[in-house]
Amino acid sequence: MVSVIFPAAGQGKRMQAGINKVLLTLGGEPILVRTLKTFSAVEEVGELIVVVAADEVTAVEGQLQKVSGLKPFQVVAGGSERQYSIYNGLQQVAAAADVVLVHDAARPLVSVKTIQAVIDTARAKGGAIAAVPAKNTIKVVDAEGLVVDTPPRSTLWEVQTPQGFRKDILLKANEAAVADNFLGTDDASLVERIGAPVAVVQSDYRNIKVTTPEDLLVAEAFLKCTAEDETR
Ligand code: CTP
Ligand code: MG
Repeated sequence: MVSVIFPAAGQGKRMQAGINKVLLTLGGEPILVRTLKTFSAVEEVGELIVVVAADEVTAVEGQLQKVSGLKPFQVVAGGSERQYSIYNGLQQVAAAADVVLVHDAARPLVSVKTIQAVIDTARAKGGAIAAVPAKNTIKVVDAEGLVVDTPPRSTLWEVQTPQGFRKDILLKANEAAVADNFLGTDDASLVERIGAPVAVVQSDYRNIKVTTPEDLLVAEAFLKCTAEDETR
C-alpha cells in the first residue's frame, strides 16, 4: 500500500494572493482538490496525508469532507519549512504502507502515468523522483557573479514531485537529517546523503509547481490541452 504526503503548509508569498495558493481555483476547482483527485485515481494509493498550517487544519478538513471520490485522507499541521511539514506527515503514515510518496500540493497537473512510474521505481530501487531534462544551459556562478562552470546539459535534470521511497528509507533519511540539522531543498537530497540510491523517472513539462501569478495562466492553458490528451 502506498501513502502520499502532500505538503500544503506554505504561505504562497510569491503568489501574492493573500491566501494559501493551493486553495486558489484552477479550472473551477481548488488546486489542492485537483491534486488529491489525481492521486485518488491510482489504485495502489491507500491514504492521503495533507499537511497544512496549524490554523488551516479545521477549514481544509471541512472543505475536503465535501469532496466525493477521494481516498481516505487526514489533515495534519505542518512546520515552518517544507522539510518539517513532511516530517510531521511522516509520523502519521499507516503501518501497512511499504512506499511513501511526497507530492507538492501546488503541482495539480501531475499525470497518473508519472505517479505510477514513481511508485514502481521506488519499490524496485528504493527511491525515485519525477524529473524532466533541463531545457536551458545551466551555469555554476560564484558569490562575485562570475561563471565557475558549465555542466554538460545532458547530465542535468530539473526535479519535480512526486518523489517516492520505500518507507524505511525515507524514515531513516529524515531521522538522520534531524540529527545532523540538515535542511534540504527536496526529499531525495535527504535520502542521497545517507547513501541510498535514487532513480530518475522521466516526467513531463506540464507538471509545473504553481508558484507565481503567471503560473496560473500557464496551468489553465495546460489544463485545456491535457483534457484532450489520452497519453497522460
Ligand atoms: N510547504 C509546506 N510547508 C512549508 C513550506 C512549503 O508544506 N513550511 C509546501 C507548499 O504549500 C507547497 C510546497 O511545499 O505545496 C512547495 O513549496 P512552495 O512552492 O515554496 O510554496 P509556498 O512556500 O507556499 O510558496 P512561497 O515560497 O512563495 O511562500
Ligand atoms: Mg516556499
